[in-house]
Amino acid sequence: GDGVTKAIYHPYDKTFEINPDDLLIDFQSPLGQGQFGVVFQGKLQTKQGTHPVAVKTTKDSDVNHLRSLLSEIKIIMYIGKHENIVNLIGAVTRDLKKRTRDVYVVVEYCQFGCLEEHLRTHRGTFFDEFGVSGVIRSASRSSYVRLQCVVKTSDLIIWAYQIISAMEYLASKNVVHGDVALRNMLLDANQVVKITDFGLSKHIYTQTQYVTTKKDTPVPWRWLAPEALSDNIFSLQSDVWSFGVLLYELFTLAELPYAVVTYNDEFLRLIGNGFRLNQPLYANTEIYAMMRECWRLDPKERPNFTSLKHFFHQFLRMQH
Ligand code: ADE
Repeated sequence: GDGVTKAIYHPYDKTFEINPDDLLIDFQSPLGQGQFGVVFQGKLQTKQGTHPVAVKTTKDSDVNHLRSLLSEIKIIMYIGKHENIVNLIGAVTRDLKKRTRDVYVVVEYCQFGCLEEHLRTHRGTFFDEFGVSGVIRSASRSSYVRLQCVVKTSDLIIWAYQIISAMEYLASKNVVHGDVALRNMLLDANQVVKITDFGLSKHIYTQTQYVTTKKDTPVPWRWLAPEALSDNIFSLQSDVWSFGVLLYELFTLAELPYAVVTYNDEFLRLIGNGFRLNQPLYANTEIYAMMRECWRLDPKERPNFTSLKHFFHQFLRMQH
């Protein structure tokens, strides 16, 4: 096929290989962990000096887990650099001195960590710039009060916009993320959001616009589009559904979606009958209406990331 298909099958680019002697990993305090992976803080020694980095590895040496981490490296390599994606710095894949058989993926370190935790931590001092009017009114508070608020409505909008920019870029590369959720969004030292965790990503190889996964893998059902849940159909449009749930998380300051619901077949039936998440406390009616567009049953009727970008751009222009 096309160049895009070739790229994903391209051999591992050896120029990314890092000498394990240049990498110092702090195993004492993990930054985060997922199903098979765990992320540690580290320091990378280069000619330019020492840089803080994040290092992802597997929890055990199960070959399947190592294989899935290697395929994640290839996906990140294929995707290439974007300012709202946690960029790849390098990897340790070879057993240079027979000390280890582990794989280490070295990526940019994001100082403020997970956006989900950041929002929960700062809930108490959130500045609701929409208020009852539903339009941004930053000037209505003194700059002193605003400085006391770590997070405000305009930050949520900027972060939504940054995530959309990254998702639009992924869509242009025909990459389905597959796990779009606030827990996979990180904040760097400049408070810029970066998408991470491409462990569940899939490249769309064909023109059929969907890919399927094995039925037995546990799924983040609260974020999944109904067609992904019932028939394992993942697409750019199922990422849009998940992004709608992420918007709900943003504008509730990271509440658990469908908090009182436990998963069973009833959930899909409710969604099929039109049951949806409620309007978040800090979203206005326009933003909630856009979330509901992302949750259209028919994937084709959902907005794409380019139209979502235009939608959020109008809110960016209103700020000063
Ligand atoms: N947790 C998971 N990945 C991280 C990263 N790249 N930076 C900071 N914290 C993380």
